[in-house]
Amino acid sequence: MTQKHVVFFDTTLRDGEQSPGCSMTTQEKLTMAHALEDLGVDIIEAGFAMASEGDFAAIATITQAVRKPRIASLARAKTEDIEMAARALQFADRARIHVFLASSDLHLEYKLKMSRAEALETCGESVRLARSLADDVEFSPEDATRSDRDFLVEMVRVAVEAGATTINMPDTVGYTTPEEYAKMFRDVRERIPAIDAQGIVLSSHCHDDLGLAVANSLAAIDAGARQVECTINGIGERAGNASLEELAAALYVRHDRYGVDSSIKLDQLYPTSEVLGNLITFKPSPNKAVVGANAFAHESGIHQHGMLANPLCYEIMTPQLVGVARTHLVLGKHSGRAALRHRLEQLGFTLTRDELQHVYYRFVALADRKKNIYDQDLVGLLPDQIRERKQEPVAELD
Ligand code: KIV
Ligand code: ZN
Repeated sequence: MTQKHVVFFDTTLRDGEQSPGCSMTTQEKLTMAHALEDLGVDIIEAGFAMASEGDFAAIATITQAVRKPRIASLARAKTEDIEMAARALQFADRARIHVFLASSDLHLEYKLKMSRAEALETCGESVRLARSLADDVEFSPEDATRSDRDFLVEMVRVAVEAGATTINMPDTVGYTTPEEYAKMFRDVRERIPAIDAQGIVLSSHCHDDLGLAVANSLAAIDAGARQVECTINGIGERAGNASLEELAAALYVRHDRYGVDSSIKLDQLYPTSEVLGNLITFKPSPNKAVVGANAFAHESGIHQHGMLANPLCYEIMTPQLVGVARTHLVLGKHSGRAALRHRLEQLGFTLTRDELQHVYYRFVALADRKKNIYDQDLVGLLPDQIRERKQEPVAELD
């Protein structure tokens, strides 16, 4: 792996699954894990072994059926959690134990009732125990972005000295901004030279409470992070996690800007999003970037005209790039004659200029009253003499 490669760590089955409406059975998790393998993710966080028997079973099942990606289990910084994670992962070809412990005073005082000194000791002991059970150990100082910077650095140093191979610095509550998050990565790298010297991977893990999860993750990459933690459709606690499809598309479309590669097969983005949408209780919102139903749909006349002239006018990537069959020129009250003519021709009707003008007025009047215009509505607008001239297509090419 080169410095130019960004590891995609997918946590749909852990952070994603633990949000409302997203729980999955073992069989459903397995279906999703196969889809993630086909998508090319490097690491699948399959669950939190200690959380429930179901989570343990799902992790163990996935380790035996899904071989290409590395499989991870989350564990609190507690002996029983770490041992349970190791047991769930025992059949994996390549396993990772992901240990986390809060580093912010807020979490230490109110949630864990632990002093800073106790937290440092617990961190060291837990990472050492995890390393005795797995070669690959990730440590996350939870709530890193709201932690005292000196203490965060101290905790990361302890984890590195105890043998952590990846350091993930989560923005647990989606509070940070891109500049601030990038600075945190730069500070930690600068103050702990062992990170770069020993090839320890730095990782981002961003929540979307302010809608900044993807921007923050990209800023972390700029500052040297070489792993991004993300989920399909951006599902996850509260407003969700950084969306995998947005990150993968951004790194590809703006390769000129970020200069890093990933192993994500972009044409599997939409199919994988569909698999998840069919397993949980909701699909991505229509305006979701990359995989939402409107991500490649155009309704306004000006945009449709531009799209018909040259798709580059209004699309920065082709729908096919991310596995979507085609662009949709949606006919609505904002559409123009060009799109109406285009759709009617696809339906087998070639109209003269005057005929088009006449049908266009009727179309706009209908579109003012109706939110969705279907093909049968269009045909219904045509006078009989045009309908009778219908040219049946010889063949339809997709
Ligand atoms: O958001 C978070 O801090 C987490 C950690 C457990 C990595 O999900
Ligand atoms: Zn999280």
